Amino acid sequence: MTVGEKITLSVIKADIGGWPGHSSVHPALIEKAREVLARAKEEGILVDFHVTHCGDDLQLIMTHRKGVDSSEIHGLAWKAFEEGTKVAKELGLYGAGQDLLKDAFSGNIRGMGPGIAEMEITLRKSEPVVTFHMDKTEPGAFNLPIFRMFADPFNTAGLIIDPNMHMGFRFEVWDIKEHKRVILSTPEELYDLLALIGAKSRYVIKRVFPKEGHRIPKDEPVAVISTEKLYQIAGEYVGKDDPVAIVRAQSGLPALGEVLEPFAFPELVSGWMRGSHNGPLMPVPLRHSNPTRFDGPPRVVALGWQINSEGMLIGPVDLFDDPAFDWAREKALEITDYMRRHGPFEPHRLPMEEMEYTTLPGVLKKLSDRFEPVE
Ligand code: F6R
Ligand code: MG
Ligand code: MG
Repeated sequence: MTVGEKITLSVIKADIGGWPGHSSVHPALIEKAREVLARAKEEGILVDFHVTHCGDDLQLIMTHRKGVDSSEIHGLAWKAFEEGTKVAKELGLYGAGQDLLKDAFSGNIRGMGPGIAEMEITLRKSEPVVTFHMDKTEPGAFNLPIFRMFADPFNTAGLIIDPNMHMGFRFEVWDIKEHKRVILSTPEELYDLLALIGAKSRYVIKRVFPKEGHRIPKDEPVAVISTEKLYQIAGEYVGKDDPVAIVRAQSGLPALGEVLEPFAFPELVSGWMRGSHNGPLMPVPLRHSNPTRFDGPPRVVALGWQINSEGMLIGPVDLFDDPAFDWAREKALEITDYMRRHGPFEPHRLPMEEMEYTTLPGVLKKLSDRFEPVE
């Protein structure tokens, strides 16, 4: 493989058992997944891989030449999760196999529970990439940071001063409820884009593309976000999505520091305890990715990679392991205290229609004959 050839980067994740509760992943599960993927690498199915976790989610990061939506790669991930689930059951881990919603794999992992972000790219001379991994939140949590990376000149200086970025980018936005999508161009349609993605539980950024005239082909994504909505798939609540994303950087794309800069602001996201609360998104190094306070606060880990000309993953660098993000973490803790003091009240607790757990129908039923008309 050489520069100019295509390689696919796939990040596939699932919660197949927490240790303890919903906080972390037991090392035996990581070991098992490594075993399965190492075999696939020997057999030439994978070019390279890395297994890690963020909170209670097992994360498979893989390079290969099979393109996106490959049944071979999705089947491999499914197998790693299935084998891991067996270990999780032996160890009595919490919610063993919770994200494997189907009994048998049928060609594509989409709609089966795990989250997927993948992109097929033409390798540049040097290919810097960041994979983001979030726990205790939903895909819309990426709306604000991805918007800022690729469309906000107050975040990304390159939009103003780099001739290779000045034309802007195109955003593919999904309407999660209606299962529709639209592509919007920035800066021309900036306000339309914001009108949609500000409603982050409904409209989510799925991909970002360059525009005509960019060095990167126009149909090749420069960012992609996992958007599988577990509660819709299962028909009942089985956990938040805990999304992942892949972002390419440098040379006419946001610089590494422009990709990370949005996370210096701990935005409020939904998720946290019982997937039913708003809280600050705290950027953390991997070793701090286990959400413990009120099952949170929600977290994001950023792993930095160079993909070499062979398609090997050179990394990871734990990018938020930097005192430059200490203030964001401190601010997140201050916001955590502030939000927690609202207890069961909105806007800490999510509005009724967005809550993943609710006793309200039961309470209303119990009180039904005690409700009386108000004059
Ligand atoms: C949130 C999450 C946890 C659980 C909570 C209750 O996404 O995973 O906050 O919702 O720990 O879990 P159960 O109902 O399994 O006891
Ligand atoms: Mg869990
Ligand atoms: Mg999780």
